[in-house]
Amino acid sequence: MNDRGDRGDRGEERAAALRARLGGIGYGGDYNPEQWPEEVWAEDVRLMAEAGVNLVSLGIFSWARVQPDPETFDWGWLDRVMDLLADGGIAVCLATMTASPPPWLARLHPETLPVRPDGSVLWPGARQHFTPSSEVYRDHATRLVERLATRYARHPALAAWHVGNEYGCHVSASYGEVDAVAFRGWLRRRYGTIDALNEAWSTTFWSQRYAAWDEITPPRQAPTFPNPAQRIDFRRFSSDALLECFLAEKEVLRRVTPDVPVTTNFVPLRDTLDLHAWARHEDVVSYDSYPDPADPGAHVAAAFAFDLLRSLKGGAPWLLLEQAPAAVNWRRVNRPKAPGQMRLWSWQAVGRGADAVMFFQWRASAGGAEKYHSAMVPHAGTGTRTFAEVRELGRELAAVPDLAGTRVRAPVALVLDWPSWWGLEQDSHPSALLRQQEANLAHYAPLFAAGVACDVVHPSAEVSGYRLVVVPNLYMITERDAANLAGYVRGGGHLLVSFFSGVADDRDRVHPGGAPGPLADVLGLRVAEFWPLAKDEHVEIEEAEPGWLGSGFGGVAHGSLWSEEVRLDAASPLATFASGVLAGRPAAARNRHGTGIAYYLATRPDPAAMASILARICREAGAAPDLPDLPEGAESVVRHAADGTRFAIVLNHNDKPVTVPLPPGGVDPRDGTDVVPPYRLDARGVLVVRYPA
Ligand code: GAL
Repeated sequence: MNDRGDRGDRGEERAAALRARLGGIGYGGDYNPEQWPEEVWAEDVRLMAEAGVNLVSLGIFSWARVQPDPETFDWGWLDRVMDLLADGGIAVCLATMTASPPPWLARLHPETLPVRPDGSVLWPGARQHFTPSSEVYRDHATRLVERLATRYARHPALAAWHVGNEYGCHVSASYGEVDAVAFRGWLRRRYGTIDALNEAWSTTFWSQRYAAWDEITPPRQAPTFPNPAQRIDFRRFSSDALLECFLAEKEVLRRVTPDVPVTTNFVPLRDTLDLHAWARHEDVVSYDSYPDPADPGAHVAAAFAFDLLRSLKGGAPWLLLEQAPAAVNWRRVNRPKAPGQMRLWSWQAVGRGADAVMFFQWRASAGGAEKYHSAMVPHAGTGTRTFAEVRELGRELAAVPDLAGTRVRAPVALVLDWPSWWGLEQDSHPSALLRQQEANLAHYAPLFAAGVACDVVHPSAEVSGYRLVVVPNLYMITERDAANLAGYVRGGGHLLVSFFSGVADDRDRVHPGGAPGPLADVLGLRVAEFWPLAKDEHVEIEEAEPGWLGSGFGGVAHGSLWSEEVRLDAASPLATFASGVLAGRPAAARNRHGTGIAYYLATRPDPAAMASILARICREAGAAPDLPDLPEGAESVVRHAADGTRFAIVLNHNDKPVTVPLPPGGVDPRDGTDVVPPYRLDARGVLVVRYPA
């Protein structure tokens, strides 16, 4: 696997060129003109100007239209669309069109189709029906990309490349013969010898020892729990296989258009692709965000994903390439965004580092599976609430061009690692209830509520600049990454680790001595036995150090999900279990290590207790919010310009108005007026305040 990434490969320069080209925040959406007669295109471009659109993602599903059979290419219609957009001053993020192969590919090469663990085939008729390991698919894809890139290399509309579309969205792994061969190749490169593989996969267990590479298959449907190390390696391989598709196309684009930035839109946060491995290969990372308007907590999870996106490239701005203007079509019940909510959630992305706000899609489809998905131009036309909100947001974003390129500064980092996520959520564990994203959000939500900015980083990241590092549930950890975190604490950092972390190594073998493995020293404790809690079961916890659980609980709180028998070495107890078999034993502990402090939680304290614990640790660590004392349901983030100018983006997620405390001296960049108290935000309101350097 090419793991070099593109550091020093002018990625930032290309991203900056895109920014300069857009002259501010990018605004627009997926544009699928081939779904409409040509007469509509001119009206589209006119309406785009009216809506403030300066960027469209074009041609994402155009492969079958552009190449109706292997030897025929039809570019004429796309030439005309590109020209129209260039004339209208609209930049194009041109798709490589490879996300949905044309039907002829499957007819001529059925082996390109993906296969499920049970051997069933995923047929054409929807989209993403290719196995990433198919050389045939990759050859056809790169041949198309070569022609596309060559044709439009110097076209004035071309501003960026949009490779594929949401890699892994529907098919994140394939289990067929083509895949078995590729998996074996990947394993040979990783392990060198079959003995090394047997060792790494613990195959002496259940008589799984392999004598030859050809005996190895993907982890297909099996009588019971398949080998866990094999499954984690298959996840690594599957993420890499998709990445190789991306890299094969990127290689062509780089050769033909070396100065044009390359991106691919990541699916809404999930466990499929190892985004840390992917991001380094993109000039700018981009993301599709689809929070559920019916979920009152959706904006917290969305913020977490945005913070991750920003952190993937060390704080560089990212692009929100897709969101719904109102409703989606793929939930059981699809509620539209409430009035103002689309604007609110768009500004939330901008606040957390997005340099583009884009939608799926420009004009609502009349036919096909997404005809009930909202669009910037709805079926009912431009006299609609949605189009009015789209136009208004375009106007607002255009008024703040100097926001683009500014950066968020976070005092806290939360650690997330995809292989560990894969390991954590496998079967045959002490509890099937542990979920990575639940753990992330349980730790993130209190920081979000307090307005403390948080990056989301890999366990090997350089963390010495952070005040606090939070490890919600790092099930697998290498000695080296553990040494990174321990070194951070020794040097004066604050570290918070929750249970079932440091348990296994990167081959899913339990570390000697068990949990928390190589974190035992920095945490000053060992775990003797896990006592996971049933769904809805609680244990009482009481503080061992007065005030540690915060005020208002009488020193007693509840833990859920997990408990465990912890033996303290150097650490001292902060809280103890007060009910159940572990009554009297530590539930939380603190260890001074070098000049820093490490904290450990042996259960999941209830949300109120989590909030007090994190508030206290943040205080001790000196991790402060940009704007303190936000009312409940309000959010604020600050973006910093290189010249010292600051932009506070303050959001009200409530259905009622709130008043927020703001420092004086700010100007609303959208209309140039001074921002004066009381700083009132309407229901779902947005305040943008510029503070001069
Ligand atoms: C995304 C996809 C788009 C569209 C959208 C609908 O996953 O990239 O093409 O399908 O969802 O919400």
